[in-house]
Amino acid sequence: MDKFIKWEKNRIPNSEKIDCANILSLEEVEKAKKFHESFPEYSKTPLVKLDNLANEIGLGGIYLKDESFRFGLNAFKVLGGSFSMAKYLAKKLGKDISELDYKELIKKETKEKIGNMTFYTATDGNHGRGVAWTANKLEQKSVVYMPKGSSEIRLQAIKNEGAIASITDMNYDDAVRLAAEDAKNNNGLIVQDTAWEGYEEIPTWIMQGYGTMALEAIEQLKSYGIEEPTHVFVQAGVGSLAGGVQGVLVNAYKNIPKTVIVESNLADCLYKSAVAADGEPRIVGGDMQTIMAGLACGEPNIISWEILKTYSDTFVSSPDWVAANGMRILGNPLGHDTRVVSGESGAVTTGLLYEIMTNEDYKELKNELKLDKNSKVLLFSTEGDTDPKKYREIVWMGGKYEF
Ligand SMILES: Cc1ncc(COP(=O)(O)O)c(C=O)c1O
Repeated sequence: MDKFIKWEKNRIPNSEKIDCANILSLEEVEKAKKFHESFPEYSKTPLVKLDNLANEIGLGGIYLKDESFRFGLNAFKVLGGSFSMAKYLAKKLGKDISELDYKELIKKETKEKIGNMTFYTATDGNHGRGVAWTANKLEQKSVVYMPKGSSEIRLQAIKNEGAIASITDMNYDDAVRLAAEDAKNNNGLIVQDTAWEGYEEIPTWIMQGYGTMALEAIEQLKSYGIEEPTHVFVQAGVGSLAGGVQGVLVNAYKNIPKTVIVESNLADCLYKSAVAADGEPRIVGGDMQTIMAGLACGEPNIISWEILKTYSDTFVSSPDWVAANGMRILGNPLGHDTRVVSGESGAVTTGLLYEIMTNEDYKELKNELKLDKNSKVLLFSTEGDTDPKKYREIVWMGGKYEF
């Protein structure tokens, strides 16, 4: 396994790029945010300001969105599943989502019009938990498939939301195909957090749902006096999150911040697509046994890829130790910085930022990105300790994840 961080500056020719961020228009994303706000469990997740860390590594500011507080589910993912399911039901009811909120959706009359439904999905954990949670809230059923090697604790968390859930012997992308096939054969609805040819509506809504997190961050940055961050680091599995965030940034800011897309080096399909530089997405296969379970996806969301290849600045392929370091850095803050419990997929961007700023080997990347004491960097810790046992193993017994 490669122990070095690799990166690729976006050099896809402009002729391959199209204006494609309009699906993340602020108007649509505001609707998602309004819908999320209608859940009794809703509260804005904190945007933590890590002043001492920023000072230590030579940056002007680090602002980190802590998604461990999202709806009591320990990860951002529910934002996508819930909004897409609501959009689907709104369409079925012949309404616009702005006319429906959570209360309206669970009214007896509404439920009678909708009838009984089963939602299918595949997941490393977080998306499936969000779909199961939403199905449960809507008094509907869910079936969830997980890839080989998935965490038993994450499986149990999904079952606790009432889903029929199991760990398959397939990798993530094959589990997605299984869920889609099963939904088709059983008259269910596949709610998958990635798009492929012919399956684009629901993933688009999922990306809009993730926009809630970006909109909150933009508002919270303003409350800290930051009108525009200079850099945004976003982690990617299939890239739906990154595409959702990137699209909102394009629509919200006059000067689009430099965006860095970060993947596991065992599932770096977007990085490989960037290296190929012909505008076409690339696929990575195999078991993808990275500690960053949420990022272990080898086939890009084709809608997101269009957005990322058009607007993102740099694509990074990261080894596991970077994520492990990020978990330790956030869990053991400097001075009065707030402690953040950040899981494997949540912490990789912090680990990467630290490495770029402090390791001479990555000086070129630091210079290319123009990261210095004037930089105001936005990060997303997309999950908390979604597998608490593994979290402790990595943070306490770190040696296991070093080279
Ligand atoms: C915690 C966490 N962060 C990031 C991601 C990446 O999201 P995407 O697959 O949309 O790129 C995931 C995906 O499951 C996740 O669970």
